[in-house]
Amino acid sequence: MEVIASSPGKTILFGEHGVVYGKKALAVAISPRVRAKVSSNDSLGVNVKSEALKLNHLSTYNSQTKKWAPTPPDMLTSIYVAIENIGKETGNIDLMNNLLLEITSDLPVGSGVGSSAATATATLAALNQWWGTNLSLEKISELAFLSEEITHGKPSGIDNTVSTFGGLISFEDGTIESYSLSYSLPLVVADSGVPKQTSLQVQKVITMKQQKPEIVAEILDAMHELSERAIPAIHNKNLKTLGDLMNLNHELLVSLGVSHEKLDSLCEIARKAGAVGAKLTGAGGGGTIIALAPSFNDVETIVKALKLEGATIISSEISIEGVKIEQY
Ligand code: PMV
Repeated sequence: MEVIASSPGKTILFGEHGVVYGKKALAVAISPRVRAKVSSNDSLGVNVKSEALKLNHLSTYNSQTKKWAPTPPDMLTSIYVAIENIGKETGNIDLMNNLLLEITSDLPVGSGVGSSAATATATLAALNQWWGTNLSLEKISELAFLSEEITHGKPSGIDNTVSTFGGLISFEDGTIESYSLSYSLPLVVADSGVPKQTSLQVQKVITMKQQKPEIVAEILDAMHELSERAIPAIHNKNLKTLGDLMNLNHELLVSLGVSHEKLDSLCEIARKAGAVGAKLTGAGGGGTIIALAPSFNDVETIVKALKLEGATIISSEISIEGVKIEQY
């Protein structure tokens, strides 16, 4: 028997960084997904294989010490934490032997498209199905958040929420709202190839906020306002307005010091190629940008221009589906 669960990646449309301070952010799930396959093997513990990380590790959970032995490599810690947490939550903590968990992913790692959260939610959903426990989606998202704390230090919760529920969501001070989309946004998600570290960028904003509290407060408020205005623009399919709001959001992120010259130039290239708006997405300092085309017919030109500048296209499709069981 084997169980396969999958979860989508995400991109933040508006409000990254502000969301850490309880401001509104908007995010959508994107079509590339992470898959987690659970089956049994003869290992005395939990064997995690990650194709993307090129890791194959076996650890056993010791209920006395409440530790995995041997200690999993750093890159796998958040996955073992997810396994431990769902084991405790469902009363299966002492049954975690002979398990093989294989992770495969369409998402690049460390590019700000939510690969770690998608890995955690897919893992949790696969184990939930494997044990026949009936954890709610809310609980899966909550447990994935605990893994995100390992990966990101002070996450807002937006990544685990989007990869669990899919579609378009707003997130404000822990309150989540889902929106139905009657059409698909012609959104290009492109990886700059510049490595980034979320915690470093979050720290930059913390430092700037300590040094210039009033100014940073106004920037964060302005970001919140952009997220508020984006919701009716999306509903009314007013892509021009949406693009303008994205451009403004990018400039606010620049003023917070979390952009990078490569991100600025990719946004500019996308705009020149016809995008109605473009911005960095996620933590910044590297990673990914998003560009909004006026229609799907214009996506190809923008994609070509970005590729010429060395960007890798991650997706130009959003996903309505959150975490799901693909096979059991
Ligand atoms: O680049 P990512 O996907 O790690 O996004 C970080 C977004 C922040 O708002 C900067 C932090 C967060 O946890 O929301």
